[in-house]
Amino acid sequence: MKRITLTQFLIERQRGRNLINADLRLLIETVARACKAISTRVSKGALADVLGAAGTDNVQGEAQKKLDVISNEILLEANEWGGNLAALASEEMDLPYRIPTHYPRGEYLLLFDPLDGSSNIDVNIAVGTIFSVLRCPEGGAEADEKAFMQPGTAQVAAGFAVYGPTTQLVLTLGDGTHGFTLDREIYTFVLTHPDLRIPEETQEFAINVSNMRRWEPPVKRYIDECLAGKDGPRGKDFNMRWVASMVADVYRILSRGGIFMYPRDAKNRDGRLRLMYEANPMALIVEQAGGAATDGRSRILELQPQKLHQRVAVILGSKNEVERVTSYHAA
Ligand code: F6P
Repeated sequence: MKRITLTQFLIERQRGRNLINADLRLLIETVARACKAISTRVSKGALADVLGAAGTDNVQGEAQKKLDVISNEILLEANEWGGNLAALASEEMDLPYRIPTHYPRGEYLLLFDPLDGSSNIDVNIAVGTIFSVLRCPEGGAEADEKAFMQPGTAQVAAGFAVYGPTTQLVLTLGDGTHGFTLDREIYTFVLTHPDLRIPEETQEFAINVSNMRRWEPPVKRYIDECLAGKDGPRGKDFNMRWVASMVADVYRILSRGGIFMYPRDAKNRDGRLRLMYEANPMALIVEQAGGAATDGRSRILELQPQKLHQRVAVILGSKNEVERVTSYHAA
């Protein structure tokens, strides 16, 4: 069987279809290379002394893990010198990271969550990296926070890596969603899941049920109906999965369907996940695979961001289920 590497996949989209330019290709390859380095660190665990707390807090006031800090540094170091970026932004940094003055600047903005699902690091459960690429409005000028304030529809690329039993890279350039597996023998991502499609119907939901008492009525109604199973209004039994790593939950949904929800609730009034480097890239990936993504009321990709670390409610996955939850919000 002929194997298509990530590089070949990207070159084909650059040369044949003009979908990306050389700068964007280099940017995606660089992010993928950083993900390989993070994957190696994650897989070494205690042997490399990367587990446990870093002893610092991030901008959200959350305690950082050593691997949060290491992954952030790997992504910054890999991307700052390529000449294709105007600025970077990360969950782990309060403000956008400016490209050091001795390096050239480019036309793109890169946002990332360096290590998603970090509560799972120390317990050997899959974690990942999420990223989103925008064009810098000023086309290469010094980019501040304002330059990042673009809706998800403006993303030119989005992707995530899952560091699980295999390391997977999922990528969209706006022409479908494609999955690559890291071949550790040649240290290369190989296209193994071209054109992923999320089934429209599902019998599987993912939500942190421990928050149930705080949910709003539409979410409570949807989950109650799922739990009622065959005898309830849905007339079928549902299964539940919650990895607590969005990357792993979304990867499962891309593979076999399902709905993922982190709704707003009485404790997290704006939702818990971050719009710009979690919800937006995942929404584009899911939509490009035939699924849907809303905050309960609006399409996530059309929300106008107000700040870099903005939180948002997230409901995404199989189209019919997402539309059902959205209709309960409108009722
Ligand atoms: O950063 C967000 C995150 O770790 C997601 O990856 C995951 O879906 C969610 O938080 C888990 O939240 P909880 O700890 O409430 O289950």
